[in-house]
Order: sequence, then C-alpha cells, then structure tokens
Amino acid sequence: MRRPLVAGNWKMHGTRASVDALAQGVSRMEVDASIDVAVLPPFLYLERVQQILAESPVAVGAQNCAKDAWQGALTGEVSAAQLADVGCKLVLIGHSERRQLFGETDEVISRKFIAAQSCGLMPVLCVGESLEQRQAGRTLDVVSEQLGNVIHELGIGAFSNAVIAYEPVWAIGTGLTATPAQAQAVHAAIRAQLADESPSVAQAMRILYGGSVKAVNAVELFGMADIDGGLVGGASLNADEFGAICRAAGS
Ligand code: PGA
Repeated sequence: MRRPLVAGNWKMHGTRASVDALAQGVSRMEVDASIDVAVLPPFLYLERVQQILAESPVAVGAQNCAKDAWQGALTGEVSAAQLADVGCKLVLIGHSERRQLFGETDEVISRKFIAAQSCGLMPVLCVGESLEQRQAGRTLDVVSEQLGNVIHELGIGAFSNAVIAYEPVWAIGTGLTATPAQAQAVHAAIRAQLADESPSVAQAMRILYGGSVKAVNAVELFGMADIDGGLVGGASLNADEFGAICRAAGS
C-alpha cells in the first residue's frame, strides 16, 4: 500500500501576517496517521512556517531549488542544501510554471532533481501537458517524454526516493479539473512507464494529481487506483479547505 501524500503549493502568495495565520490553521489540522501532508511556502517564509509547524506532523518543503546543490556564486538562487538547512523535507521540481515562464528544460530539471536528492530532500517531479497538446491527442507522449528524459539522465534508481505529480497545465488555477478517469489514465501510463524500467519502483511510486483539486472533487480523484494524493495550489491557501482535502486522502 502506498502512503498518500497531499502537498499544498502556496506559490508566490502571502505576507508575514497571512502566512502565519495560514500556518497556524494548518498546525491545528488533525492529520490522519495513515497519510503524509506537506506545505510549500515561498522561500522567504519557510523558516517561520517551519517554526509554527515544529510540533505538527505536517512537513515543510519548497517550490523550487537551484540546479547546483551547494553554495556558490549564483545570485538570487536558493540551493537544496540551504533548504535542507532550514528544515525542508521535499521540493517541487519542474512545476509547469517553472517550465513555461522560466524556460526550465528537462536537462535543468534533471539537475535540480539530483541536487535535491543529494541534500536529502525528496524531489516531487511535476509533469503535464498543455491544452493544445491534449487537444492534439499528445497527452501520453508529452508526459512520457518529460518523465523519460529525467529517467534517461539519472537512471531509474533515482526514482526510488521521489514523488511524481501529474498536473495537466490546462487544469492549473483554471477551475477545470481532469475527470478522475482522465487523470487515472495518465497515472496508469506513468506507472507502466516506470514498470518497464523497474517494477518495484513503479509499485512504490506515489503519483499525485494536481490541477484545481478542491474538497468537492478530492474524494473521487483520490479514489482512483493510481492516484496517491494531490498537489494542491489555490485550495491550499485556506486551511479549512486544505484540511478537508487531506481528510479525503485519508478516507
Ligand atoms: P491549482 O494549482 O490547485 O491552483 O490548480 C496546482 C499547482 O499548480 O500545483
């Protein structure tokens, strides 16, 4: 049995005051012992959220890291080693906003993935197709290529301690959600691709769904055989809503 994971991606939202209030709300959530929960605040607020959640089972992670693991002359970047130093446990790699708006290629994403792992952070590799690609019937090809390029660079062994998030770009922040059947089809294809390389890695891999996950659709999505939790954006900015989504993963 795979242990569900629900991660809240706070993106570039919040102020000290609102982040504190949200983190306090999350710290009051009752987290089912059978699931893992994480929040991913902006870099600036990682440490204060970590402090607020110090006694909580909720882990803290980051939304991105530099492609070089350690310290160096990389103005404006934050390294995986620094994230680990402030208590992060996981980090998103290759979120579609990073791919689209910041031009991250699969090669850069592979370097970030390995940088995260070398510092003891769990990489959460994000993959997903655009609306245009889905309409052209290319969803499985696009996702398979994004995943395949990282496997090719790093080897399947790197995936024995990682998470994959399938996030159709057209469903992110749009209110459109993949139907449970649409999501399941892609999740099953991802698992089959992993199984071609290593059945045991495929079996253990947690594959999260992301894209307008809310309390009202979480139960159905998380009920699908290959959906092992969620990567939640907008709905994670409200502790009550996020708590309800986490309960759906535990049910
Ligand atoms: P959303 O974002 O839940 O607001 O669609 C998900 C994500 O980008 O991780």
